[in-house]
Amino acid sequence: MKKNISIWLLCEAILYEDHKRGLRMKHYDLKRALLIFSLFCIIFFVVLFWQQNSSVDEVAQLFPVYKKVPLIRKERKLSYQPQWHWHCNGKHCERQRITAGVPAVSLWTCSMSCGSTQLWPQPSGPVTLGSRTATFNHEQMVFKSEARDPAGTLIRHAVEIFKNKVLDYVQDVNYTAHETDVGKILVHLHVRLPDVAKLRLDTDESYHLTVKSKTKEIYVNITANTFFGVRHGLETLSQLIWWDEYSKNGMLRMIKNASVKDYPAFPYRGLMLDTARNYMSVDTLKRVLVGMSANKLNIFHWHISDSQSFPLILPRLPKFAKVGSYSPDMTYSPEDVKDLVLFALVRGIRIVIEIDTPAHAGSGWTWGPDENMGELAVCVNKQPWMLYCGEPPCGQVNPDNPKVYEVLETLYKDVLDMTKEDELFHIGGDEVNLECWQDSLSVATQKKYGDFHDLWGDFTLKALDSLKKANGGKVIPYVLVWSSNLTKRPYVSKYFNKSNIVVQSWGSSQWPDTIDLIQDGYKVIISHVDAWYLDCGFGRWRETGDAACDPYRTWQTVYNHRPWIQQGINKKQVMGGEICLWSEQVDETSVDARLWPRGAAFAERMWSDPALDMNTFSITEDVYLRLNSQRDRLVAKGLRPEAMWPQWCLQNPGMCL
Ligand SMILES: *[C@@H]1O[C@H](CO)[C@@H](O)[C@H](O)[C@H]1NC(C)=O
Ligand SMILES: *[C@@H]1O[C@H](CO)[C@@H](O)[C@H](O)[C@H]1NC(C)=O
Ligand SMILES: *[C@@H]1O[C@H](CO)[C@@H](O)[C@H](O)[C@H]1NC(C)=O
Ligand SMILES: *[C@@H]1O[C@H](CO)[C@@H](O)[C@H](O)[C@H]1NC(C)=O
Ligand SMILES: *[C@@H]1O[C@H](CO)[C@@H](O)[C@H](O)[C@H]1NC(C)=O
Repeated sequence: MKKNISIWLLCEAILYEDHKRGLRMKHYDLKRALLIFSLFCIIFFVVLFWQQNSSVDEVAQLFPVYKKVPLIRKERKLSYQPQWHWHCNGKHCERQRITAGVPAVSLWTCSMSCGSTQLWPQPSGPVTLGSRTATFNHEQMVFKSEARDPAGTLIRHAVEIFKNKVLDYVQDVNYTAHETDVGKILVHLHVRLPDVAKLRLDTDESYHLTVKSKTKEIYVNITANTFFGVRHGLETLSQLIWWDEYSKNGMLRMIKNASVKDYPAFPYRGLMLDTARNYMSVDTLKRVLVGMSANKLNIFHWHISDSQSFPLILPRLPKFAKVGSYSPDMTYSPEDVKDLVLFALVRGIRIVIEIDTPAHAGSGWTWGPDENMGELAVCVNKQPWMLYCGEPPCGQVNPDNPKVYEVLETLYKDVLDMTKEDELFHIGGDEVNLECWQDSLSVATQKKYGDFHDLWGDFTLKALDSLKKANGGKVIPYVLVWSSNLTKRPYVSKYFNKSNIVVQSWGSSQWPDTIDLIQDGYKVIISHVDAWYLDCGFGRWRETGDAACDPYRTWQTVYNHRPWIQQGINKKQVMGGEICLWSEQVDETSVDARLWPRGAAFAERMWSDPALDMNTFSITEDVYLRLNSQRDRLVAKGLRPEAMWPQWCLQNPGMCL
């Protein structure tokens, strides 16, 4: 079984890369390709079976993707030779005219050895980078790891992902024909705890990366306690490599001498994406995961359903998606979810699915009467919507129907089966509208509850009980809920056990919510709307009600948000933060630009939490330049992030700020 998973992971990694390269492939071709790949995977399985003891290098030889020449993306047809090159004057790279007899230095090569580390996120520990660099080609890289399974298998995938990342920098198919400074690059990966194959909040993600060189050889060492640390180390190594367009017709180049000690400031570094308001394909979600892994974000919070649509096909409750999805092809099958979970795992990310209740539940919840189970939701599509919900269409789970709690248990069981994530679970819980219940529920209920917050609280306790039953009677260690009236005093202590409920605090950072929760002993995840909501600032999508949440949160706003300092919050109770993208006004055509580079700015805040000038809040030039380099790496990887500033500012460091 374990072997099967590893094979699946391998094929998965390859398929993604191939699919990305062949975006315009027809459906038929894709099917055929899949078939061939399945065959390949079976053969691979057999080969691997006979080669159980082979080293990583030997296994790597079996990967066609490594040997495959990348598709040319950029035919460089220059109508004249470049006129400018860059010179490090000690502080900045200065743009100068190229003069005959003086070797031309490209901007990347200058930036990589002119004071800035160019790493993103900035490492937490000490970084020393030498200024000498060397050209090489990807075929000269040799990887070695003695780690036994499961870390061994995970490392093989991480190495493939790394190699593809390096290949994605390459802009000239024939560059391997040129002579290089280096003969061989030996990358040695050490893991102290090879049994760790699952990311948890207390997983050690630290690593130590060293690069040393001897005449024609470069030795890279990445040492970590777990696979997750090794993976982060490879990510950092990929940032010490760049495409130098001025060497020959372009060559890969890397720093020859380096040491980086690194570890995260927070264990929970999340990104939330809503796929209910607008659907996004599995490939798009993979692109999101690729961007996250490049920035060492580690939790993908998938707000998968809402009152608008319910795209998740639940094996035990298929009616949810049948009546709740926008269309049969706008769904996520259990296989899609499992596929994404593995895709994320080898990139150091885990997936937390949220099926929001009791509010934000309409589409998908309407099949109860057909099955003699009564109404599972009330106020569905009720008008005028302003009275019964935050945005159209309305819908809220019916707390009076005992069948609801059986449905919740089954639904939770399906989610747990698909994600295998049993340390963290998100139950939703935001924006409950008490008027909706007041207008829809029985007289008996009206009489029983003087304050409908208690009805909401009872619903939540029963939902938590369903979750426990779904998890085989075991309490999930960290159950996440959105902040709401119910997470305020006096309700919070009545309904939420601080030893296992974590509140995702999304109100304004000026509100007392977060501070109150911390004072009352709760752990929090910070998602303050005024700093970390990426959907804001795109105008209204309807005529009635408030416009969404103007203005746009700039990357600087995202980066500068540091409430544990600004508000004196006890950092120990902050598990981390999460940047949120609600999808009313975004779908897969524009999601990259919404998420990046702002998501990267957030990631550095979470990873090393660099100091800020608390008087001016001005961001240093180094941050601009490093973030720009990171953005360019995402572009090389096939993402489509927003531009940060005119290219001129990049070409003339120090002249724009
Ligand atoms: C790469 O090399 C091959 C064989 O030498 C040649 O046919 C091809 O035109 C070259 N491609 C480019 C983009 O230079
Ligand atoms: C790499 O790490 C191993 C184990 O920590 C150590 O024995 C070896 O000397 C290191 N090699 C280099 C070149 O730093
Ligand atoms: C660079 O290399 C020299 C000689 O091998 C070594 O003494 C030095 O520690 C290295 N620096 C870094 C940052 O690794
Ligand atoms: C939250 O509680 C306050 C006061 O208890 C009330 O005025 C407000 O309407 C409530 N908000 C919601 C969304 O129920
Ligand atoms: C809170 O949860 C902890 C751990 O699950 C448990 O030991 C404790 O009894 C719970 N407290 C209450 C009041 O339910």
